[in-house]
Amino acid sequence: MSLYDIFLSNTGRPIHKSGHYFFAYERHFGRYVGCPVTFLEIGAGNGGSSQMWKRWLGPLARIVTIDINEVCRQYEDEQIAVRIGDQSDPSFLQSLIDEFGTFDAVLDDGSHHMVHVTKSFDFLYDKIAANGVYMIEDMHTAYWPDYGGGRGDPRSMVERFKGLIDDLNADHVRDGTVAPTAFTKQTVAMTAYDSILVLERAPFINKTMKMVGDDTQRMNY
Ligand SMILES: C[S@@+](CC[C@H](N)C(=O)[O-])C[C@H]1O[C@@H](n2cnc3c(N)ncnc32)[C@H](O)[C@@H]1O
Repeated sequence: MSLYDIFLSNTGRPIHKSGHYFFAYERHFGRYVGCPVTFLEIGAGNGGSSQMWKRWLGPLARIVTIDINEVCRQYEDEQIAVRIGDQSDPSFLQSLIDEFGTFDAVLDDGSHHMVHVTKSFDFLYDKIAANGVYMIEDMHTAYWPDYGGGRGDPRSMVERFKGLIDDLNADHVRDGTVAPTAFTKQTVAMTAYDSILVLERAPFINKTMKMVGDDTQRMNY
């Protein structure tokens, strides 16, 4: 069953998602289906989404869902751990890593306020698995001043993401304005969708450029 089918056929606790998000979920989280995975969901909402992840990812998935709202404690279930805290609190986030180990995948569907989204990302990104995935959804709020965003506003996560594209490519910047960082070394892909940002890590990235094939057939260009 596709994740979208699981979503549409849900009759349990409510889930709140845009239809086109499933394209991104299937592409970036699909590799975990049926496999061991520790999945962190920021924002439990009504508790339906963690059930959806569990049904889709399968019996080897450990879903950790966090929320600032104490009411969400009731969503704890087999394979689903609920912890109450603030997504922007580094000591709370560290306590999750201490308890559950390294997260393979993070989905930030929490407050969607730039200050929270940024703090979670800054703390968690380089602590997820070396081949992990970090996804932030509902980033239309990055354009909204009441969420701390706005087009061109340096606090916006979309603006931050645009800047990180330079860090991703820092090995090729010749004017010295961007220096390679750990992010450059450990990030293999950045993908933007309407309202969704995705960053993927890799423990090793072979960036050696080679010309292969029959050299006598090579044209100069
Ligand atoms: C959009 S809802 C989550 C929806 C759910 N994931 C779904 O797909 O149905 C956002 C949740 O984030 C929680 N939240 C808001 N601010 C937060 C914060 N600073 N830290 C953790 N959770 C927060 C809210 O209480 C709310 O339950």
